[in-house]
Amino acid sequence: MSSFTRKLGISLFFCASVLGVGRVLAHGDVVPQAIDTTGLPSLGSDWLEKNPYRGTKDQALATKIGSSGFNQNCARCHGLEAESGGLAPDLRYLDKAEDGDGWFINRVRHGYNQNGVQKMPIWEGILSQEAMWAIRTYLDTRYAGD
Ligand code: HEC
Repeated sequence: MSSFTRKLGISLFFCASVLGVGRVLAHGDVVPQAIDTTGLPSLGSDWLEKNPYRGTKDQALATKIGSSGFNQNCARCHGLEAESGGLAPDLRYLDKAEDGDGWFINRVRHGYNQNGVQKMPIWEGILSQEAMWAIRTYLDTRYAGD
């Protein structure tokens, strides 16, 4: 093997490993997925404490958008279809309807930090208010409490 071929081989190997590492990082890094809320009424910039879509003509669409939004952004911790595997709370037991709305929106906006560890991510600035309430609408359909 000429020294040129050897050098070429080494560079190719090097490139391949760098690309390989890049792929692993990209895979392990969970990027939040934008949620398309087209069709849902906009809610403005004031934060609501109650789900504005519940019991309205927009409820079905909100549920559909919320279902995919949840499974893309929340399920990795809270479980597919909101059935938790135990790492994060099982959101099927979150208080239903208005009783749980305030708690829901505050936790989702601000996340939860315990002793410097960000256990629940902060979603304000990442997801729109419309997307958050769509997820809340979906969670109502998964309610499993009494
Ligand atoms: C990185 C993991 C992770 C992701 C992703 C995540 N959560 Fe959480 N979430 C947690 C943990 C852990 C807690 C519990 C925090 C605590 O100890 O109170 C929590 C708590 C909550 C709570 C309060 C539950 C309760 O019973 O008090 C709500 C509501 C919630 N998450 C909603 C969501 C929604 C909606 C999403 C997606 C937009 C989401 N979470 C994404 C980890 C996550």
